[in-house]
Amino acid sequence: MKRTNNCGELRKEDSGKKVAISGWVHKYRNLGGLIFLDVRDRHGITQVVFDPKVLPDEIISKAGSCRNEFVVTVSGTVQIKPEPNKNLATGEIEINADGIVIENASVTPPFNFLNGKSDAKEESRLQYRFIDLRSEKMTNNLLIRHKVTMAVRNYLSDKGFIEIETPTFSKSTPEGARDYLVPSRLYPGMFYALPQSPQIYKQLLMVAGQDKYFQIARCYRDEDSRKDRQPEFTQIDIEQSFVSQDEIFELTEGMFRDLFEKAAGIKLKTPFERMPYQKAMDDYGVDKPDLRYGLKLKNVTDITRNSGFKVFSDAPCVKFLPVPGISEYSRKQISAIEDHAKHLGAKGLAFAKYIDGKLDGGISKFLSEKETSEIISRSELKENNGLIFFGADKEDMANKVLGGVRIKLAEELNLYDPEEFRFCWITDFPLFSYNEEEQRWEAMHHMFTMPKPEFLQDMIDGKNLEKILGQLYDLVANGVELASGSIRIHNSELQEKVFSILGMPKEEYETKFGAMLNAFRFGAPPHGGIAPGLDRLVAMICKEDSIRDVIAFPKAKNQNCMMMNAPSEVSQDQLDELFLEIKKH
Ligand code: AMO
Ligand code: AMP
Repeated sequence: MKRTNNCGELRKEDSGKKVAISGWVHKYRNLGGLIFLDVRDRHGITQVVFDPKVLPDEIISKAGSCRNEFVVTVSGTVQIKPEPNKNLATGEIEINADGIVIENASVTPPFNFLNGKSDAKEESRLQYRFIDLRSEKMTNNLLIRHKVTMAVRNYLSDKGFIEIETPTFSKSTPEGARDYLVPSRLYPGMFYALPQSPQIYKQLLMVAGQDKYFQIARCYRDEDSRKDRQPEFTQIDIEQSFVSQDEIFELTEGMFRDLFEKAAGIKLKTPFERMPYQKAMDDYGVDKPDLRYGLKLKNVTDITRNSGFKVFSDAPCVKFLPVPGISEYSRKQISAIEDHAKHLGAKGLAFAKYIDGKLDGGISKFLSEKETSEIISRSELKENNGLIFFGADKEDMANKVLGGVRIKLAEELNLYDPEEFRFCWITDFPLFSYNEEEQRWEAMHHMFTMPKPEFLQDMIDGKNLEKILGQLYDLVANGVELASGSIRIHNSELQEKVFSILGMPKEEYETKFGAMLNAFRFGAPPHGGIAPGLDRLVAMICKEDSIRDVIAFPKAKNQNCMMMNAPSEVSQDQLDELFLEIKKH
């Protein structure tokens, strides 16, 4: 028996046709002798009915022995259902069976599907991923992912980009995480590193004259997994020669417009908004602001320097977050927000209520008239009664805390439309940031970014490093960093200058990045690029909170794969071959 149709395609018009379908038993019912099997595959579910009045016992007993997740092929005639099932695309028909083959039995599955999803905890879903992926939700997520990659490939190919694969056995690449290492058998004691991104290769491809490159590239970073972070993940990696920042923006906007339309039927408005990094930090406290709602932070450091309130006068920076409409929040509700702030690293979260033009309660009694009137006027609350939260700390901590409180309150107060996609380019990032703990300069993004032309001389002179802005950009949507990129340095001397600013001795950068420096001496074209994170992008389209739900076989929170049981120990022989010895731990 060979299938003629999939389980999602038969309709009223097919009534009377002789068909065969194959799939998994989704549901089994025996109603007054009639046996109903809902048969499911990737395409949908079709109801099959077995009538004992007309069918031989052998067929009825086979159908009756089927249980959830048995694999079957059934043949029969399409007929119109007396009462259509509106929840199914095939709900107007059923198959009146005349035969069944049980292709395979199944032991009782560890979970069932409820409303198209597995009704189990994530651990179980990951352990039995091969069952979880049969669910309508996961099947749909994988399909959308496929549509996104297809749209991307077609779009970029149409624009003259070619897909070129780069190695995964490589050398450490600098994206700031720990490397995964692969021991070499032929070179005892030596290791390949899995690339954190194809960054160096794609720049070398520009030196190699390939002009417009892309790759759906796997990246490996040994960092803690989170909802939006996996140790191995996928980038839509793009690089182009003789290109400007504006051209990369236009290319990316076109690609996003196209893939949102093709994968999800969503029309995006372009060009996307642009915002300098400093403005994002000032107004939202983060470099990936969710612009679907307002709630801007305000700075009052200039007027709290000599405050009578010690928490303010002692702090290098005082910012506040005015929130309209919640002046009636209880002490308990405010405490919960303060706990969240402390969790983010705050020492406390001072507050005051704004009611009928006056500050009231909380710390209001400690504030001078001038402080009070400035806070009120900067809050822009005007006719809206509300609550004001204060962060007094170093600027980055005040931003982190109030930026985090802003996000929490927006969720709590339903301040945004979950259907909206609000894109924004964040531009003008500083190139360097000072690491106080380690007392050294670090690259904000990676070390290959070109400064904006007006800062080039300062970079050459190693001056005013904290002020140098780069041709460096992120694409942010709804508070998620979807992509990151830059115009690169293509000159070996300037690149060496950056390495030395970052405190790398010549021997070190020659060992680590010698290939690139050497290539730059052989005629490197100006170039730049970008890399959207495919997993985050698809999760956003699928409205999934975690990228694990758009990856077929992701790692769990603790980085292991429960299905394959990886990582795992290896044999002594394998270790010996690699000249490796395991230390006691
Ligand atoms: P970056 O490190 O910012 O840039 O990464 C680019 C994008 O990749 C996604 N991303 C991740 N997704 C899932 N899990 C992770 N662990 C993870 N890390 C990053 C994010 C991010 O915006 N070579 C540069 C790009 C360039 O300059 O062209 C790079 O890798 O969406
Ligand atoms: P205290 O003087 O420590 O009793 O704090 C008075 C109020 O200020 C309390 O509501 C604290 O939560 C708050 N507070 C303390 N430290 C800070 C800080 N660094 N930033 C904001 N509020 C703070």
